[in-house]
Amino acid sequence: MSRVALVTGGSRGIGAAISKALQAAGYTVAANYAGNDEAAAKFTAETGIKTYKWSVADYDACAAGIAKVEAELGPVDVLVNNAGITRDAPFHKMSREQWQEVMDTNLSGLFNMTHPLWPGMRERKFGRVISISSINGQKGQFGQANYSAAKAGDIGFTKALAQEGARAGITVNVICPGYIATEMVMAVPEKVRESIIATIPVGRLGEPEDIARCVVFLASDEASFITGSTITANGGQYLT
Ligand code: CAA
Repeated sequence: MSRVALVTGGSRGIGAAISKALQAAGYTVAANYAGNDEAAAKFTAETGIKTYKWSVADYDACAAGIAKVEAELGPVDVLVNNAGITRDAPFHKMSREQWQEVMDTNLSGLFNMTHPLWPGMRERKFGRVISISSINGQKGQFGQANYSAAKAGDIGFTKALAQEGARAGITVNVICPGYIATEMVMAVPEKVRESIIATIPVGRLGEPEDIARCVVFLASDEASFITGSTITANGGQYLT
């Protein structure tokens, strides 16, 4: 039986590439999404990958959603915490809502998704938790005090949980993508985006598949000795 992988935010952007790459690698994939029904339906029609709607910001919705996925597909072996949002603003203009929404999705989302799955992974003595952080959690970014804080938190979460999962055969790792050609990055004002691309040594935005390949590797049996690590994939823009 093939392993089951659950990808949050898995029907668009980097998440869609991850879902497809895991499917191609032989996993049974469930793609979670929060809002865009049309994109999810199109994604399922194109790929055959089932989509499930709930917000990772809501703990109870995560627990219920995971229960549904597991009832339909079997126990989740691989969790990819990919769902993320931006609410960019310079700090003096940032509202409490902009702060909270980003924290709830980009940081608490990792707790909300991993916590209900953790006991089963421990029992079965196998698990892969792979979270998608960001270059901006490593270096900080003007206009992203909320996002940078949450994404830095994802790295700390990973390092702590890796220590707890190690003896139970669960690896916990985080990937920090740089600027990838997705709707999220295309929403940055063009002039700002051009100035960002000028600082990327490889001279281009990354592709979602660049990140998906990292996920497939970390999910594999071959990566069993890698845990608590931060994989940077940013075209050389920031060297840690
Ligand atoms: N460094 C220093 N100063 C900056 C700056 C920077 N990076 N960016 C803007 N400023 C300055 C501007 O020059 C301007 O200065 P003046 O008032 O003296 O002219 C001032 O800040 C205000 O700029 P704006 O008028 O543009 O302010 P705004 O409120 O309209 O927008 C912003 C500010 C929302 C931060 C906008 O600049 C922006 O969207 N920046 C991009 C932020 C970014 O990179 N987000 C990443 C999104 S993609 C992502 O998050 C995925 C991932 O993981 C990589």
